[in-house]
Amino acid sequence: MNREAPIFELKNVSQKFGSFESLTDINLQIGAGDRVALVGPSGAGKSTLIGLLNGTLLPSKGEVCVLGRNLAHLRPKLRRQLQRQIGTIYQQFHLVDNLRVIHNVNAGHLGKWSFFKAAVSLMWPLEIETAAKALTQVGIAEKLFERTDRLSGGQQQRVAIARVLVQNPAAILADEPISSLDPERSREIMDLLRQLSQGTGKTLVTSLHAIEFARSHYQRIIGLRQGRILFDTPPEKLTSTTIEQLYKT
Ligand SMILES: Nc1ncnc2c1ncn2[C@@H]1O[C@H](COP(=O)(O)OP(=O)(O)O)[C@@H](O)[C@H]1O
Ligand SMILES: [Mg+2]
Repeated sequence: MNREAPIFELKNVSQKFGSFESLTDINLQIGAGDRVALVGPSGAGKSTLIGLLNGTLLPSKGEVCVLGRNLAHLRPKLRRQLQRQIGTIYQQFHLVDNLRVIHNVNAGHLGKWSFFKAAVSLMWPLEIETAAKALTQVGIAEKLFERTDRLSGGQQQRVAIARVLVQNPAAILADEPISSLDPERSREIMDLLRQLSQGTGKTLVTSLHAIEFARSHYQRIIGLRQGRILFDTPPEKLTSTTIEQLYKT
């Protein structure tokens, strides 16, 4: 069978912060187009794992390969090129509040644009069409020239998603993207991420507290507890007993 190389592969990965090990001996493959939910209690290691997948962290032990390349073995320039293939959105959106939406969306080009082009674009926005298209995809086309801090939380998360669409990565990571949002907005963002992943075939890895969204919107659920993988299973095989084990104190 002609299997595609995984987008992410972790082999015997451990991550230490000082003497504390936040991930222990993780083995994991995530393929093209997979939709994976990461669940587990606070401190389980979800954000650490996302940091390893997007290369903001390099493992203390073991190998992390992205698109078949070990990030730790690449020169900085090549590593940055590979990192551009991974787009990440965060709970706190990580937008520049006092800029217009278009500038935050255009930040998805950074890394591809020269410093000069990026600086010019702050005065005269470049690539308005690309930004407008991304905003249309996330359902807020009319906000292009609005100041970002005038938008609601749900709308700001949509801007962050539009920025990732402009970046056009192979995989999208989302670290608790709905933890700051109300239930209705949470559902909308979950629907949007699923729809974008299905529509583009991009891999999606999302850390979540809401186990119900993990079940309803993802094909694979990975449970992390105290830095280890407790289960890695399709939602229909996840039992309430297993969930209790995941969260038990
Ligand atoms: N930069 C860091 N320095 C020290 N400890 C850290 C750092 N990042 C995470 N940790 C610790 O690692 C553990 C896992 O954290 P994290 O990956 O943020 O968990 P989660 O996202 O599941 O809540 C926690 O105990 C946390 O305190
Ligand atoms: Mg976290």
